[in-house]
Amino acid sequence: MNGNHLADKLAQTGNLSDEELTEVLLSEDPALGGYLAAKAREVRERVYGKDVYIRGLIEFTNYCRNNCYYCGIRSGNAHADRYRLDEEEILSSCSSGYALGFRTFVLQGGEDPYFTDERMISIVSAIKKNWPDCAVTLSVGEREKESYQKLFDAGADRYLLRHETADPGHYRMLHPEAMSFEHRMQCLQNLREIGYQVGCGMMVGSPGQRAEHLLKDLRFLQEFRPEMVGIGPFIPHRETKYADYEAGSVNLTLRLLSVIRLLLPEVLLPATTALGTVDPKGREKGILAGANVVMPNLSPTGVREKYLLYDNKICTGDEAAECIRCLTARISGTGYRIVKSRGDHITEDSFDNASDTLMPEVEGATALGTDGTALPQDKV
Ligand code: 5AD
Ligand code: FES
Repeated sequence: MNGNHLADKLAQTGNLSDEELTEVLLSEDPALGGYLAAKAREVRERVYGKDVYIRGLIEFTNYCRNNCYYCGIRSGNAHADRYRLDEEEILSSCSSGYALGFRTFVLQGGEDPYFTDERMISIVSAIKKNWPDCAVTLSVGEREKESYQKLFDAGADRYLLRHETADPGHYRMLHPEAMSFEHRMQCLQNLREIGYQVGCGMMVGSPGQRAEHLLKDLRFLQEFRPEMVGIGPFIPHRETKYADYEAGSVNLTLRLLSVIRLLLPEVLLPATTALGTVDPKGREKGILAGANVVMPNLSPTGVREKYLLYDNKICTGDEAAECIRCLTARISGTGYRIVKSRGDHITEDSFDNASDTLMPEVEGATALGTDGTALPQDKV
């Protein structure tokens, strides 16, 4: 069957059969990607206009009790240079982020037992007290429901916990016995019940992944209907057993971004750092495939090269101000625009709630050109 016909059907009905979705996933037809992206852009513009939301990512600890086989900061990596930010350092990152226009802070870290409920509550409530107009997103892995509830009560608004794979057998290939597929899924249910805006997602091209796994992932997303979905290509890290595996495909990631936008029109969908790492124009391509969020790094520069989930990560040497300037230019080159707002998930009946506050002109942004091609070489 003609690929464009599948894209039309997906756009019109919001769904495809298993066979049809598999055909889209496996398609080698370059025209299909472009056509799907155009359909995905139509849908994202109907819901979110041209707005792209920014999230200030604060990677506050790279200690982790887990040993996920693909991840550079897994507990078994004795060569990882471990660090933690204290509350003061986290608040100082928020403060510079606020001045740069961020209205969402994402606290991301490994599963670090040092960050007890008490310490996390103190951090979350301090951020909400200092910047009440900001959203706090947590991305600190699996915790008990009572813990998630306490952090929500302290003011956390959103939670990112990628499901990684919706197939239990594939999950086992990626995670050691000490971790459980059922517990991860239970965590997502708990987060939803408590009232968080919930994000899940998977890597594209992770070791052992086949089209049938991605199909399961898509069916899971349709059923769970998360407010946010984070996907990016798998990228090997040299200190893992998957060091010699190939990175995930850029084109498949882009096709999946478009499909996810068409399956879940209102989803908040980032063009991830991993996508920007495997392709110098990855984030721009992601936006043009239907993504509507970017997550520049707000961590202090001193710790950035230590938060390495995979090799060759971009932006580890750049100040937050530099990243926002760079991204503003890159996004404006796509015809979309970064806006300064919390960028909450909106539902079909509240489309007009989309905030339109444009980012103030960032000095130097226009000098970089608008099509992204004029960026200095070290940025592309
Ligand atoms: N390549 C790409 N993404 C990775 N992640 C972890 N390790 C890698 C890797 N090697 C992703 C996981 C995790 C998120 C924070 O980063 O999906 O949930
Ligand atoms: Fe960090 Fe371009 S986004 S330097």
